[in-house]
Amino acid sequence: MSTRTTLITGIGSLVTNDPGQGAGPLGLLTDAAVVIDGDTVAWVGPAAQAPAADERVDAEGRALLPGFVDSHAHLVFAGDRTAEFNARMSGQAYSAGGIRTTVAATRAASDAELEANLAGFVREAVRQGTTTIECKSGYGLTVEDEARALRIAAGYTPETTYLGAHVVAPEYAEDPGGYVELVTGEMLDACAPHARWVDVFCEKGAFDGDQARAVLTAGIEKGLTPRVHANQLTYGPGVQLAVELGAASADHCTHLTDEDVAALAGSATVATLLPGAEFSTRAEYPSGRRLLDAGAVVALSTDCNPGSSFTSSMAFCIAVAVREMGMTPDEAVWAATAGGARALRRTDVGTVAVGARADLLLLDAPSHVHLAYRPGVPLTAAVWRAGVREV
Ligand code: NIG
Ligand code: FE
Repeated sequence: MSTRTTLITGIGSLVTNDPGQGAGPLGLLTDAAVVIDGDTVAWVGPAAQAPAADERVDAEGRALLPGFVDSHAHLVFAGDRTAEFNARMSGQAYSAGGIRTTVAATRAASDAELEANLAGFVREAVRQGTTTIECKSGYGLTVEDEARALRIAAGYTPETTYLGAHVVAPEYAEDPGGYVELVTGEMLDACAPHARWVDVFCEKGAFDGDQARAVLTAGIEKGLTPRVHANQLTYGPGVQLAVELGAASADHCTHLTDEDVAALAGSATVATLLPGAEFSTRAEYPSGRRLLDAGAVVALSTDCNPGSSFTSSMAFCIAVAVREMGMTPDEAVWAATAGGARALRRTDVGTVAVGARADLLLLDAPSHVHLAYRPGVPLTAAVWRAGVREV
């Protein structure tokens, strides 16, 4: 071992997400230990057999799991939408148009302001156990504003997503076709160097199936991999399009036909469920059970954004998925860790295994089940991100 090593021992319950290492799909181990070497997991096994290390942390029977992989977030923005949320909780409906409120505030903000906001949200997420976070553009909607959002985001995460097609920019209200041309042309050219993914909000009030296909296809031609905001507010073509184009994930999946479920189940496209959005728009939750029973891969994510889901808490999403979406605690914890990794096509995160990135969440609880059993309780005891102790 070449770098500084840390032994975490006395782990009452360890979620590895590696069935080869322990019991069930979570690969659960009891009385376990983990050795971190630099930014990597170097050893996993029974505490009694653990090797020596430079530093030793006694988990005192607590649960350790992979850091959360939050595969869907919108964090480069300014302002908030408290009034809109308040009105919704008094009966008003959510609509895609609210995005334009945040677009105006974001355009008016300085780079430094946007970066400070983003850094604050990332910090907030890390404090709650999130060690990988995806970040979308989509609140700029001009060539310059979308490119700067992605440039800023790229300083904080490699998982950056070009979402110029969030809604039609206000300047193009009378010419949506012209906006799609911009998004697939000049804006894409400016954004692609800072992005890994391309996304589109395929929805009534945003982009229809043909427009979404044009956006995603153009992104693919530029080397980006697609992911889709699909079937959130209404039934529609988003999920089928995602599957057809080999998208890494179809996100929201709130309104699914049997054909949509079958398409997801028969594909490598992950169904990413975002319970914070249904919570904050007072909408009906999607059924995680239906997707899992059909054989689809399910991820859970926050969708953190100022309009439809202003939470950065993956633990909250787990608790809601268990209570309202028919998922077991084990399934929800898998979806928030390994599922998120699958949605981002990452094999180095979402697991505690030799060679994986040392992204670890130590809970102030004896079991990962407490994430659903003790909703709303801050359970973070410690967080390591790429081997660095951050909490
Ligand atoms: O994922 N659905 C589209 N985008 C966000 C909402 C953005 C907003 O309302 O500002 C979402 O829910
Ligand atoms: Fe979203």
